[in-house]
Amino acid sequence: MNILVTGANGQLGNEMRIVSRNSQDHYLFTDVVEVEGQETTLLDITDLEAIRHIVKEQDVDVIVNCAAYTNVDAAEDNKELAELLNAKAPENLTCAMKEVGGLLVHISTDYVFGGDPYNTPCKEDQQGTPTGVYGLTKLHGEQAIKNIGCHHIIIRTAWLYSEFGKNFVKTMLNLTETKPQLKVVFDQVGTPTYAYDLASAIFDIVENRKFEGKEGIYHYSNEGVCSWFDFAMMIAKYAGHDNCTIQPCHSNEFPSKVIRPAYSVLDKTKIKETFELKIPYWTDSLKTCLSNIKNL
Ligand SMILES: NC(=O)c1ccc[n+]([C@@H]2O[C@H](COP(=O)([O-])OP(=O)(O)OC[C@H]3O[C@@H](n4cnc5c(N)ncnc54)[C@H](OP(=O)(O)O)[C@@H]3O)[C@@H](O)[C@H]2O)c1
Repeated sequence: MNILVTGANGQLGNEMRIVSRNSQDHYLFTDVVEVEGQETTLLDITDLEAIRHIVKEQDVDVIVNCAAYTNVDAAEDNKELAELLNAKAPENLTCAMKEVGGLLVHISTDYVFGGDPYNTPCKEDQQGTPTGVYGLTKLHGEQAIKNIGCHHIIIRTAWLYSEFGKNFVKTMLNLTETKPQLKVVFDQVGTPTYAYDLASAIFDIVENRKFEGKEGIYHYSNEGVCSWFDFAMMIAKYAGHDNCTIQPCHSNEFPSKVIRPAYSVLDKTKIKETFELKIPYWTDSLKTCLSNIKNL
């Protein structure tokens, strides 16, 4: 099969490059800008004609959409751009794949939840109640895919980090090394996800054709539950940054335009059972990522 990855220079896209190195399929990595040392075909997924052209020219069977507008805070001031990238662009990809009978693997987010107070892990069929523009536009993207209806697998994930790009792990590594003390919120609870683990799951589903007859929405994060405070504590502990005191604080101590979900833990039963996946525990994956960052 010919598999096209969008947003290939982002966190998840870069991990897709790594996990697919020995694939029996042919992968084409695309993004809006080129990065030195990474083979990238330019493709702007807001441009439907450009997508149609590349899908026909490259005979694409599967698109893995790793591109998105992912800046949760900035989305509050850039609603149109967030909607364009998170809703219109997936709609474009859906149209293009529907025309050729192909499969779209699309990534969504735990932030489609959070508006209702609950403390049991969110299931796939639970109603979306986003608290901000990012989550709302990602929910619109999911709805567009379902409404237009090409073959699709939508995977909602959460708290992504990796050795690539900007993320919480890299920020905390820097802060806990350079600051004597730090406050991190303990009233937002979820599960971190090492992008390598998610990319491995996507690769397994595609490479082994596990998607056949298994369309729909799935949840994937690492195993376990923690707050951002717990996450920061573990990052500092594993990195050996003992000289920074990390204190738990409430979200209202960091005024922000966006209200983030207090609880957005994803129930992963469906993806584990459907595709026979084993998902690593979050602290084990954190250790792996930290060691990969150290060796860069
Ligand atoms: N990050 C998280 O914590 C998190 C949590 C839950 C779900 N997710 C979802 O997981 C997926 C992957 O996230 P990520 O963190 O890997 O994202 P990321 O690192 O922000 O990467 C996104 C990539 O998409 C590219 N892009 C932007 N506009 C584009 C366009 N018009 N056409 C094609 N590519 C474009 C970006 O390029 P530029 O950088 O040059 O703009 C970037 O390389 C997304 O769907 C995201 O919503 C992420």
